[in-house]
Amino acid sequence: MNKLTILVCVFACQAVFLCFADANDRSFVVDYENNRFLKDGQPFRYISGSFHYARVPSVLWKDRMMKMKAMGLNALQTVIPWNFHQPYWSHQSSRFTGDQDLGKFIDTANEVGLLVLLRPGPYICAEWENGGFPAWLTANTSVKVRTSEPGYLFEVTRWMNVLLPVIKPRLYANGGPVIMVQVENEYGSYGACDHDYIDYLYNLYRKQLGDDVVIYSTDGPTTRMITCGSSKDIFTTIDFGAGGSDPMNTFKVLRAYQPTGPLVNSEFYTGWLDHWGSGHAHVGTAAIVTTLKALLAIPEVSVSMYMAIGGTNFGFWNGANSPPYAPQPTSYDYDAPLTESGRYHPDKYMAIRNTIATAMNVTLPPVPDLQAAMAYGSVKFTQQCSLVDALAKSVQAYEFHQPQPFGAAHQSFGFMLYDNTMKVTNTSASALEMTVTGMIHDRTVLLINNMAQYVLKRQDSGSQSLKIAMPSGSSFKLGLLVENQGRINYGGGIGDQKGFIGTVSSPVASVGDVWTQYPLSLDDTMTSIYDFPRSPIDKGSAVPTPAFYYGTFNVTKIADTFLYTDVLGKGQVFINDFNLGRYWPLVGPQKALYVPANLLLEGQNKIAIFELVQGVDSLTEVMFKDVPDVGVANTVEVTSFSKA
Ligand SMILES: *[C@@H]1O[C@H](CO)[C@@H](O)[C@H](O)[C@H]1NC(C)=O
Ligand SMILES: *[C@@H]1O[C@H](CO)[C@@H](O)[C@H](O)[C@H]1NC(C)=O
Ligand SMILES: *[C@@H]1O[C@H](CO)[C@@H](O)[C@H](O)[C@H]1NC(C)=O
Ligand SMILES: *[C@@H]1O[C@H](CO)[C@@H](O)[C@H](O)[C@H]1NC(C)=O
Repeated sequence: MNKLTILVCVFACQAVFLCFADANDRSFVVDYENNRFLKDGQPFRYISGSFHYARVPSVLWKDRMMKMKAMGLNALQTVIPWNFHQPYWSHQSSRFTGDQDLGKFIDTANEVGLLVLLRPGPYICAEWENGGFPAWLTANTSVKVRTSEPGYLFEVTRWMNVLLPVIKPRLYANGGPVIMVQVENEYGSYGACDHDYIDYLYNLYRKQLGDDVVIYSTDGPTTRMITCGSSKDIFTTIDFGAGGSDPMNTFKVLRAYQPTGPLVNSEFYTGWLDHWGSGHAHVGTAAIVTTLKALLAIPEVSVSMYMAIGGTNFGFWNGANSPPYAPQPTSYDYDAPLTESGRYHPDKYMAIRNTIATAMNVTLPPVPDLQAAMAYGSVKFTQQCSLVDALAKSVQAYEFHQPQPFGAAHQSFGFMLYDNTMKVTNTSASALEMTVTGMIHDRTVLLINNMAQYVLKRQDSGSQSLKIAMPSGSSFKLGLLVENQGRINYGGGIGDQKGFIGTVSSPVASVGDVWTQYPLSLDDTMTSIYDFPRSPIDKGSAVPTPAFYYGTFNVTKIADTFLYTDVLGKGQVFINDFNLGRYWPLVGPQKALYVPANLLLEGQNKIAIFELVQGVDSLTEVMFKDVPDVGVANTVEVTSFSKA
């Protein structure tokens, strides 16, 4: 600190610790020679955990961070999903307020006393819709994501010119908590291996952020992955899970590439992801503790646990793996030490806390108390709106001679109805035979005269023949209601188009040559579902699904709660207009959706569903209970942490 700074500090802020925030005495660097980090000139190692702000409401960020700190962490790592900040075609208006307030997230970490490692991608993987890429970007199939293709770099640069200025004042050297910024993510696992791209990103970060921040890469522990994912100026780290006899064996491959410097595992897996239709993943606490102990016993090692808290894929934010196409559920509980709702895992949280306290010989802050969840009981549906009425009210329709993907209507999320008219050509035919040919992305309800008749899955893409009852009359309506179940977030399939692109043919009926497409995005590019024309659900009967159903419930004491949809089939649920996420008890594993307290109001609350499968009537009840159920845990522990 120079004399002038001291004077300014004494004068301007007296004893306030702005003085300590002076740029001159804050530094965080890699000390390659001595295999360590130096923070303010002192040897330093971080024990960090991943916490994705996009998966936890902003009012809960501080609570989760306090619990992470009490687990023994001194840093957190987060991805920055590009599509969370620029979700729509009107992407010039970026979102950085409310739950998108990245600056506030970083500042809150600073307040709590956690350092921050940022992963701005632009590709993030993270089991997040499209691996973080906006739908508008990948709707242009000429854009070659994750390469140095000029059109892609142009959009990346435009985004980074918006994002990096939010980060810069929060770098450690500038008084904030951000010590490291990651380039791309596990780039070496991607086929392209384009070094010009990685170097371009590195230079872009340096230009915007300056020299006073560590820029790092994270890759799987193989030579190919590391050499494709990193570059000479980038501090290289790897990721791996529990198991193996000695982490030093795994670090050997990193040492071969980067002979000196601290050793970092940037994704030490505390749990694992789920898919609809499979069991809840389970990574054993004993295995985690054994490997964590071994990691912390190596003085050169810093580590970031993936995840400290997983959180929730609210709305439409889940990603999917492929092939075969397997979307992830709404819960991103991850079997992490902090559960989806910020509660303590039965044994993992304390086991990790004890391991860190012992290994680092530190006294940790007390574990914060939890607020009890509430069971608000059962709720019935009292109002309804048919799909036809909803579409008539809500949206602009598009007409095409060939069915077009969501992108043609500038639609990012939700559903699209493809509508046509069929004329009977063989009046003596007793059954309606049809062949649906082309791309079906993803789950599609086939409607005849607005009545659901058949479900086509994404796996039925290609050519699918079906036979259903012949409708009466000489012509009838054909509808294909296509759901985007989440874009692929990993591997060669990222950027997948959504919708139906193909043809429908029948030996007994002709198909009209104009398709009318109705976007039903259920996001804030369209009118609220409460603007749809609603009618009371008559006793015992309701409009056929797919349809919207509405109910209300009263709350006297606001708390976290868990919504059980056992009696329903599959759909989307909204609490007080907030798009909570997908429910699908028919396939599981998730049985209950986490409803954070901040979504509730004192007095009357609203619940609405868009149900695709199950009949709903005035007797149908959903339940709010005080216990989570993310699904029955697999008895077999995950031991292989390969995403491919
Ligand atoms: C689509 O992407 C290509 C390649 O990046 C680019 O040249 C072209 O301008 C893009 N088209 C539109 C309509 O943005
Ligand atoms: C642990 O920390 C305490 C208090 O800081 C110190 O007295 C003690 O020597 C330390 N023990 C070890 C094994 O480093
Ligand atoms: C019409 O359908 C009937 C009953 O399936 C069948 O026997 C007949 O061959 C069909 N006619 C033509 C012209 O395809
Ligand atoms: C909620 O409370 C209001 C006012 O007391 C009451 O009229 C209404 O019936 C209650 N609704 C439910 C679903 O219990």
